[in-house]
Amino acid sequence: MDLGIQGKTALVMASSEGLGYAVARQLVAEGARVVMTSRSSEKIESAAANIRNEFSGAEILTFACDVSRAESLQQLFAFVEEKTGGADILVQNAGGPPAGDFQSMTEDSLWEKAFELTLMSFVRSVRLALPHMKRKQWGRIVAITSSSVKQPISNLVLSNVFRTGVVSLCKTLAADLAPEHILINAVGPGRIHTARIDYLDQIAAQRLGQSMETYQKEAQAKIPFGRYGTPEELAAVVAFLVSNANGYTTGQSLLIDGGLVTSL
Ligand SMILES: NC(=O)c1ccc[n+]([C@@H]2O[C@H](COP(=O)([O-])OP(=O)(O)OC[C@H]3O[C@@H](n4cnc5c(N)ncnc54)[C@H](OP(=O)(O)O)[C@@H]3O)[C@@H](O)[C@H]2O)c1
Repeated sequence: MDLGIQGKTALVMASSEGLGYAVARQLVAEGARVVMTSRSSEKIESAAANIRNEFSGAEILTFACDVSRAESLQQLFAFVEEKTGGADILVQNAGGPPAGDFQSMTEDSLWEKAFELTLMSFVRSVRLALPHMKRKQWGRIVAITSSSVKQPISNLVLSNVFRTGVVSLCKTLAADLAPEHILINAVGPGRIHTARIDYLDQIAAQRLGQSMETYQKEAQAKIPFGRYGTPEELAAVVAFLVSNANGYTTGQSLLIDGGLVTSL
């Protein structure tokens, strides 16, 4: 299938590793010009260099941005506008908030930080992305959330609470933006093997007094596929959703979880 995104500009946030990196790589492979961002200029430049090595002629720009900070996002969008004219495609992503249950999240500041990182980063990014997409009368937005939007995950209260807000905003905006040919969706990963999963599994294994190896073996056995997913498997779905081949799917929250969540 021709995704029809050659020459389009895609802004992929939090893409120095993990899911964001895999999405950036996939969109480069499809011929898009990709702007990659993360907090560390060294990490993001090295990630971009890896992709450039793999795909000759790849058009990749990098910019260091902390998506939890309004000012940093404004600088990022000004950079994208100046260098490319604006992002046709926005893949909004960020690091996950810290693990913990309700009892452990006693400080308001922990909630406020997670609100800025997980929900406000999406609100602000969409706000900054829309003027260009409206001018072009074409746009695609995908937010990377979590399977927790359908089934809250134990010991991840901050993620559980704020990610549902992201999905709700996607659904709310989908109808408003459809007449302008701007499609907005969310994808919810469930156990896609990245550094974040290793971090969470380490915490869970310690709580249960298990080795990491035993914990991960048991965790994978609970997934119908019997294994964690790969970042490339998520990236393939995102690439379709942000493409021209997707002309009618909007306002959806799609889990990429190997069948882990059993709710409808
Ligand atoms: N993997 C899964 O199965 C899964 C499941 C549920 C939810 N999620 C969520 O999906 C998102 C991506 O997951 P992942 O597994 O790819 O995580 P990851 O391996 O921890 O990668 C996180 C990426 O985010 C960047 N980042 C972190 N904080 C940032 C910030 N404030 N501003 C800009 N960039 C930032 C990091 O780069 P720098 O360090 O260079 O900034 C890195 O590139 C996370 O929110 C995670 O919680 C993942």
